[in-house]
Amino acid sequence: MASGKLIKKGAEAELYLTEYNGKPAVLKRRIPKPYRIPELDFHIRRTRTRREARLLDRARRAGVLTPVVYSVDDERMEILMEYVSGTRVKEFLLSGGDIGIMRDVGRSVGTLHSNRIVHGDLTTSNIIIRDGKLVFIDFGLGEVSDSIEDFAVDLVCFEKSFQATHYDVMDDAWPLFLEGYRSVFPRAPEVLRRVDEVKRRARYL
Ligand SMILES: Nc1ncnc2c1ncn2[C@@H]1O[C@H](COP(=O)(O)OP(=O)(O)OP(=O)(O)O)[C@@H](O)[C@H]1O
Ligand SMILES: [Mg+2]
Repeated sequence: MASGKLIKKGAEAELYLTEYNGKPAVLKRRIPKPYRIPELDFHIRRTRTRREARLLDRARRAGVLTPVVYSVDDERMEILMEYVSGTRVKEFLLSGGDIGIMRDVGRSVGTLHSNRIVHGDLTTSNIIIRDGKLVFIDFGLGEVSDSIEDFAVDLVCFEKSFQATHYDVMDDAWPLFLEGYRSVFPRAPEVLRRVDEVKRRARYL
């Protein structure tokens, strides 16, 4: 695959802007980590590449928008996917955008969990607003699970990263997220009780 223009070099992957059938596309390539044992490194990158491609499709079938996966190469650790043109929820909120968006984020996360999809890296950098709709990306740490504990940990991690990035709107925005989450996911009360427990445990450690 021709790589195209580097748009981002993340902690884990390089992202290139390229084309697929004349349409803008993103190539996400997981790069080797020199500090990992090579066999283990290969295994981790392959697992995350496969997992990400699978979950992007699964989430879309569940009704949560994600970039269309055009191809996966689990030797080169590459995913070629649709380019999502828009603004990330992070920049939207940091520039004073309406915190009501967090209700929609909550509904989408509730829909993922209803369909047994744990995202694994919920942050406002991993949600893009396109034409007023939310598109979720970066599922490499996700999994299919039915466990209340896994759902709770997904929320606790999100809350932590949200608090760190959006502390100024946290107190007003987070309840909206929870409202959206509760409105679509019947097991939300159970998950939210577990969230409190996970936080209590974390404090004792
Ligand atoms: N399909 C896409 N369309 C448009 N932009 C994208 C797409 N995929 C990724 N990006 C952009 O590249 C950034 C990094 O992508 P991604 O989160 O998948 O990689 P990452 O290596 O896990 O990065 P990070 O460590 O920052 O989370 C995203 O925050 C987003 O700005
Ligand atoms: Mg990311």
